[in-house]
Amino acid sequence: MSRKLLVAGNWKMHGSLAFVREMMSGLSSQLPAQINYDVAVFPVYIHLHEVITSKSTHVACGAQNLSEYDDGAVTGEVSAKMLADLGCDMVLVGHSERRVRNNENNEEVAKKFAQALKFGLTPILCVGESSVERQNGTTQTVVWQQIKAVLDLVGITKLAEGVIAYEPVWAIGTGETASANQAQEVHQFIRSQLALNDDTIARRIRILYGGSCKGSNAYELFSMPDVDGGLIGGASLTAEDFMAICQQADRLSQGV
Ligand code: 13P
Repeated sequence: MSRKLLVAGNWKMHGSLAFVREMMSGLSSQLPAQINYDVAVFPVYIHLHEVITSKSTHVACGAQNLSEYDDGAVTGEVSAKMLADLGCDMVLVGHSERRVRNNENNEEVAKKFAQALKFGLTPILCVGESSVERQNGTTQTVVWQQIKAVLDLVGITKLAEGVIAYEPVWAIGTGETASANQAQEVHQFIRSQLALNDDTIARRIRILYGGSCKGSNAYELFSMPDVDGGLIGGASLTAEDFMAICQQADRLSQGV
């Protein structure tokens, strides 16, 4: 089954209105009108509107987080309904920076995933092990616990309405990319576990790789059979760097 590649730029807490305008005009002018892969960007909340109003139609826009609640006395949070109302398409859930810094646990992340789907947003569920967990040989256990919490809450059909991003924590922002084989090994594990629930759905779900992905390694990573694109941090912060990754997705989507 062929899955469309997705190149997603997580801008994290970077940028300004001027940065957003420059990025969006760079992407609009450099992305061809017709592409056979998907592109999405994830600015901070307060820049979402600027991205949504300036983006070309084939670029999706997502938030980096959302509340697990519909609405109410939850100061400082933003709901899925508000994001959908604004015109967002997607939302990240469970990024490791939030799991670590904000103590988000698997159950909370699962609720956020369900909340996104409830309001028509596509959630990208971020999972991944720390360097200690990898050294201890618990990568598969950790990653599967993170996914299973969501699976238990929403079921396999709903899970497949989202996207999974495997982001080994030790590879994020470190320049130490997982090798294509290391990434493939975990992606294949995830897909084979999902196949135990439903083989057809497991073959359909997109699994992105994230962690020091850049123009120079994107082709090798994305060409692995179970890697369906990337969630890009640092290399999504200039149009030139991000386009270098998109060009690799373009080559692969055209079979060259
Ligand atoms: P880097 O590409 O900067 O390693 O970040 C990856 C990431 O965390 C994307 O969500």
